[in-house]
Amino acid sequence: MKTTLVIFGITGDLAQRKLLPALANIIEADKAGELMIIGVSRRAIGQFEVLGEHHQLSGTTSLFQMDLDNPADYQRLKEHINAEEDEQVLFYLSVPPDSAGGIIEHLGQAGLNAPSNKLLLEKPFGVDLASAQAMVDHTAAYFHESQIYRIDHYLAKEMAQNIVTFRARNAIFSYLWSSQYIERIEVVALESITIEGRAAFYEQTGALRDFVQGHLLQLLALTLLPLPTDDDLNWDSLPTRRQAALDTLIPADPARAVRAQYDTYKTEVDNPDSQTETFVSLELRSSDPAWQGIPLALTTGKALSRKKTEVRVHFRRTNTAQSNYLIFKIQPDEAIAIDLVTKKPGYDQEVEHQKLSYMYPPGERRPDAYEQVIVDAINSRKSLFATSSEVLRAWEILAPLQEAWAQQTDIKTYSVGADAREVLGDALNRSQI
Ligand code: BG6
Repeated sequence: MKTTLVIFGITGDLAQRKLLPALANIIEADKAGELMIIGVSRRAIGQFEVLGEHHQLSGTTSLFQMDLDNPADYQRLKEHINAEEDEQVLFYLSVPPDSAGGIIEHLGQAGLNAPSNKLLLEKPFGVDLASAQAMVDHTAAYFHESQIYRIDHYLAKEMAQNIVTFRARNAIFSYLWSSQYIERIEVVALESITIEGRAAFYEQTGALRDFVQGHLLQLLALTLLPLPTDDDLNWDSLPTRRQAALDTLIPADPARAVRAQYDTYKTEVDNPDSQTETFVSLELRSSDPAWQGIPLALTTGKALSRKKTEVRVHFRRTNTAQSNYLIFKIQPDEAIAIDLVTKKPGYDQEVEHQKLSYMYPPGERRPDAYEQVIVDAINSRKSLFATSSEVLRAWEILAPLQEAWAQQTDIKTYSVGADAREVLGDALNRSQI
């Protein structure tokens, strides 16, 4: 099937940093089929300026300037697209959250919501449960859920997908995969970058909405989700399985959560009163008998000493043995490692910790998460996209924190470049981050 991909916000940060490189790669890898790209922008801009170093896209890309609030411009866009019967049109909304609702409405009213058309949406999906519900209802007025692809690019990261494959394909771990043998799960996404000039976006967002609501809860869901015991995993069932995991999570307890802000943030966003958090750590619990009672810890922050995203599964110790843990290293290294206790070579029967690990070979090209989401959307594969009910459930889980934090005016600060463990201090009894 022929595809036209219409990107709203072609000049924006996401399109420039992620989408154009991803498109160049998938076209080169011949994964896009017959693809035309239309870049929509509000201001007049030349192709050379938009495509920059991705000039190989020039043959496939046309630019379209329009006023996003003007219904007549959507009619013009429709004529410009001029879709044939056997063609699908994908609308990628790479725009600030407050513009998305209007674009969706105008697309619908212009009849650009034909069943073969798809809507690709970027987070944040609302700012809390009520606004997310309103967004879901608004979108549903114009597009059917089957046409909507909500992107959480962490779901599409190679190693995040591998959590599921590893669990489904290695029987030794499936026997151990419950709180009977696991005592703690940690999902950590630390960043060394600051908000990098995204002041307006980040002031309304903060780490809870930017990272925990989507990325971290989804990584946790991949770790907890129920897998079939008797059959091969059907990837189409993944959203339902993630949903099942999210449904069992008990809404967060503010007493088991901390938040903080890096010390130059207020100046960066030019708001001396800002209470927006750039660091969050919380512990959740599940009501699922398979996971009951164990801490499920989520931590994220910006301007920390290093970038590190991983999921760590700590196994229970027996009376004598040290505990072992399994790590899914998502980035910057991509690896699966098991921490084992072994005999230290020598005369004295001492022990030491060693890691048994598998790392993707360096230099081997792997698709970036954005390549994966575009290819999957073109091919109508929805397993790596968040459904509306997952999004709503995630907001429900975090609602108690949002309510409690809305009352606070004394956010703790940390130095740029701090170690995440220092930021956490004694809170939440965290052994390692
Ligand atoms: C985005 C967040 O979703 O993910 C950013 O809005 C964050 O704040 C980014 O920096 C991190 O993505 P990645 O793939 O670089 O870890």
